[in-house]
Amino acid sequence: MAEQDMLLSPAGVEALRTALTRARFTSNGIADRLGPQATGGVARNDFRAALKATEDRDPLATLIRVFICDQTESEAVVAAALAPLDLAEAVEGGLLERHGDGVRAGVDLEPYGDEWWVLADVPASARPGRPLHSEHVLGIGGATQTLIGATVRRPVGTALDLGTGSGVQALHLSTHARSVTATDVSPRALRFAATTAALNGQDWELLRGDMVAPVAGRRFDLVVSNPPFVVGPGTTTHVYRDSGRVGDAIGSELAAAAPALLTEGGTMQYLANWVHVAGEQWDERVADWFAGTGLDAWVIQREVADPMAYVNLWLTDVGEAADPQRMAAWLDWFDAHKVEAIGFGIISLRRGGHADPVVRVEDLRQRVEPPMGDQIGAWFDRQDFLQVRDPEALLAERYRAAEGLQLRQEATLGDEGWAVDRQVLAMPHGLRWTEEIDPLVLALVGGADGRLPLRDQLALLAVAHDVAPDELAEAAGPIVAHLVARGIIEPVTD
Ligand SMILES: C[S@@+](CC[C@H](N)C(=O)[O-])C[C@H]1O[C@@H](n2cnc3c(N)ncnc32)[C@H](O)[C@@H]1O
Repeated sequence: MAEQDMLLSPAGVEALRTALTRARFTSNGIADRLGPQATGGVARNDFRAALKATEDRDPLATLIRVFICDQTESEAVVAAALAPLDLAEAVEGGLLERHGDGVRAGVDLEPYGDEWWVLADVPASARPGRPLHSEHVLGIGGATQTLIGATVRRPVGTALDLGTGSGVQALHLSTHARSVTATDVSPRALRFAATTAALNGQDWELLRGDMVAPVAGRRFDLVVSNPPFVVGPGTTTHVYRDSGRVGDAIGSELAAAAPALLTEGGTMQYLANWVHVAGEQWDERVADWFAGTGLDAWVIQREVADPMAYVNLWLTDVGEAADPQRMAAWLDWFDAHKVEAIGFGIISLRRGGHADPVVRVEDLRQRVEPPMGDQIGAWFDRQDFLQVRDPEALLAERYRAAEGLQLRQEATLGDEGWAVDRQVLAMPHGLRWTEEIDPLVLALVGGADGRLPLRDQLALLAVAHDVAPDELAEAAGPIVAHLVARGIIEPVTD
């Protein structure tokens, strides 16, 4: 990276890396220094114990006070902690800012994992009353972590991070991609990303431009994006949040761009908001984004917010919660467009090359077992299995019920004992799906021990339940496909 593209000079970044490493300013180093109680306090923004544990101002203590506890410290003490990085360069680059009679953090410099550091802007909550920069660079928040967890982490050749900001998604991509490209429309964000990359000894291709424009004509094995997905009238005040597109158009735009971005077998995953419009099915509306793309698509809705809560959340995020005019204009736009709610979720697309790609849009709001990316990868694998088998071929396979599968029953006590009202299969692991099923399907799943082809298993069930075997086999086709898609029964390959 050229010198002007980073917050510090290349030598300055190297000096910073030396200082942080020497001091053990890493997640584990900090945890060891503070101990569990003070570390727990820091996680809750209660810095009292951490400040007590860092009173002696050695380099690690000083870095913790400045970058974790947001304290102002004397120039001399901070200069000693950051040496060999020159304090003047740190101030000039925005790493520190002069405050009172000392200096304090000018950026959010977070140890991340035990090996990395991520550079971002200090969040609005840490500087109450100070307006956020219009090119505010987002730190590691909830949405960022959602995408990190949802990304399918399999080895790939080329990976792309669209809207890289701090560069945190690119850092993760670097663990399983041979080459990483990262883009952003904001020059400021690119400066942060370039600094994050250099600080972590990474070499990414960094490109500036609007969404996919900088990579037009190129294809990648894996594309991830935590784009500015916030929906509204299309006004842009903060580039990390506002795309300038009206409504939820950024989500459909990325869907339309995906086929040309992906190599054969490639995967694209991004976060999105979508509107729930009165009189329309939200899932059909979102499914329409993928019609004609030729891609397998799995859209998982993780949250739904009402317009008031949504607008409040995003105004608070930029420190503008108390602005009644902004709030009214935003809510008026939702009213005018009959927006009843806003969904948030993860979109995963795969160029599977199937003649009849699957598009599934569903609500999945339960707590899931991390990492979600493993589940998403497995879901696409199961779609591959299903895509190449007609109902006849599906019934020819042997299946085993998922490990640990549970049956939950609701029953009412009557004159003749317990009458079962509802039976639900529950997966205790992974996506923790639950599925209401009838007694026949329950018997089918219960008997799936991997020994008999399903057709033979169904023939035995047909006798036991006094139904015609062919009719049962025909009815079972779609149910079996559904059970396989969810991983409730798994094909046996040995
Ligand atoms: C929500 S932040 C995500 C940052 C980071 N990737 C993460 O996961 O935390 C969105 C990023 O997209 C960038 N961005 C906004 N509009 C863009 C556009 N039209 N084209 C490319 N990047 C854009 C912003 O500058 C910001 O860095």
